[in-house]
Amino acid sequence: MTTLKIRKAARADAADAWRIRREAILHQCSRHYPRADLESWTSGDLSAEFSRIVAEHFHVAVVDGQIVGTGLIDLDTGKVDAIFVSPSFMGRGIGRAMMLHLESLALGAGLRRLHLEATLNAAPFYRAIGFQGDDITIYHSPKGTKLPCVPMEKAL
Ligand SMILES: CC(C)(COP(=O)(O)OP(=O)(O)OC[C@H]1O[C@@H](n2cnc3c(N)ncnc32)[C@H](O)[C@@H]1OP(=O)(O)O)[C@@H](O)C(=O)NCCC(=O)NCCS
Repeated sequence: MTTLKIRKAARADAADAWRIRREAILHQCSRHYPRADLESWTSGDLSAEFSRIVAEHFHVAVVDGQIVGTGLIDLDTGKVDAIFVSPSFMGRGIGRAMMLHLESLALGAGLRRLHLEATLNAAPFYRAIGFQGDDITIYHSPKGTKLPCVPMEKAL
């Protein structure tokens, strides 16, 4: 793979972030969740609220000028979210690189612990990069979809 760069997102990246979120979820979560739930979770048009969150909080992974992954960390709480990689770029270390980037931001902000809610398909990925957690709870999406997920945490 050519050079991978991770940078703070801009509002202009919101459409790519929205598309990658949907593509990543539909590609990789389908063995673990009913298709109807995934459609409900990812449906809809890009909203002004999502664009605002991207501009304020997202980071993007860029390969050859193309956005191929996203990630978000709340530096007040240590919550990680929106870790999504384009299907054709999965398995090349981009998710790991994004998490390392977010971890360095967290350490710089004085955080000592990260936490997240992993989709069932992604829990092995998070375990491979040092997160712990095995319990299954129910995540309530903003649109009301109920999705089993795994609360996980990592000490920095
Ligand atoms: C989960 C996801 C973010 C992983 O990103 P990625 O770039 O494909 O992962 P990486 O290539 O950086 O993998 C890092 C490590 O995790 C492992 N890993 C990645 N996905 C895995 C999986 N589904 N099952 C088991 N191990 C996995 C890799 O083997 C690698 O381990 P290694 O370095 O010891 O070989 C990505 O596949 C994705 O976007 N999935 C769909 C959306 C999703 O579920 N996001 C998480 C929401 S909580």
